[in-house]
Amino acid sequence: MTEQDFILKSYNTNIENGSVKWSSPSNIALVKYWGKKEHQIPENPSISFTLSDCKTITEVTYTKKESKDFSFDVYFEGEKNEAFKPKIQTFFERIETYMPFLRDYHFKIDTSNTFPHSSGIASSASGMSAIALCLMSIEQELTNTVTSSAVEKSDFNQKASFIARLGSGSACRSIEGELVVWGQNESTESSDLYGVKFEGEVHSNFKNYQDTILLVDKGEKQVSSTVGHKLMYGHPFAKERFAQAHENLAKLKTILASGDLNAFVKIVESEALTLHAMMMTSMPYFILMKPNTLEIINKIWKFREENNSNVCFTLDAGANVHVLYPESEKETVLNFIKKELTKYCQNEHYICDQIGLGANLIRL
Ligand code: PMV
Repeated sequence: MTEQDFILKSYNTNIENGSVKWSSPSNIALVKYWGKKEHQIPENPSISFTLSDCKTITEVTYTKKESKDFSFDVYFEGEKNEAFKPKIQTFFERIETYMPFLRDYHFKIDTSNTFPHSSGIASSASGMSAIALCLMSIEQELTNTVTSSAVEKSDFNQKASFIARLGSGSACRSIEGELVVWGQNESTESSDLYGVKFEGEVHSNFKNYQDTILLVDKGEKQVSSTVGHKLMYGHPFAKERFAQAHENLAKLKTILASGDLNAFVKIVESEALTLHAMMMTSMPYFILMKPNTLEIINKIWKFREENNSNVCFTLDAGANVHVLYPESEKETVLNFIKKELTKYCQNEHYICDQIGLGANLIRL
């Protein structure tokens, strides 16, 4: 599909009100997206595991109005929230070409997360994808369409991902599971405009892959990812980094098919450290890892060596550590985490999650 195909041409203006509700998960990138062009187009391809339990649940209620300004209220965990409004205003401005009905209704956006607030977990992916899906369901109501066939479902998911991307880049990878690719590349079916479910072969070693998130620092990040992406403009290593992401995605495709966990660990950890190396070598430079992030990484390496394990780590743009491991190692790795790693977490707090299947419609 092209951008033109996502423009809604006509809709029923007689519907007075309604409400829809979706839950949408977070995702964790294996090959990282870091650096973007205008209109949220990624500089390099990325691939992620969709998570199962870390989700945002959003209900959008819409009521017909006369004025043509955007009008919306945001509630977070039951309380009116003004802090989220500017981000949603920008989001509406970016997507109104594709969803012209946004000016016809007042929206009440009621949202909550299954993971604790201020856990330092990126909620923009689950948050923005959940709103995008609610708006897609409203679009369906206004056009009296249903998604029953596989083609209709795929078109729905594609536009939902396209809209989510305009809210937050990585959000476009949260619509479906279990693995999603975003960004044009030669190894997989893909697009810069939306995430595409990875349809390559996936070995049973990756079935129910585990992700335990160690909450090292629950505070607000000192540098937002919006700023971080911008610092890739004119970054001395940008060209090499973008080329490397293409290579790593190609390698990962082979690894996912063969089930070679040793090779998987190498790509995933190298990607995490490269992401942070980009931050440390931009101008201005910054560090999001904390001393406890490094303590955890070293303990994971030691445990892996001593126990012939396949546990590994990845990081997103923060200090928290995602510990990834096969389901077959669930018991031993969880014991290790409880015994040796939780002491490095804020209030010993961690979240157990695993690879998931994508967003769910709760109510139309
Ligand atoms: O979606 P954004 O703009 O918050 O960027 C997120 C980027 C990383 O989480 C660091 C990597 C990724 O691919 O998710």
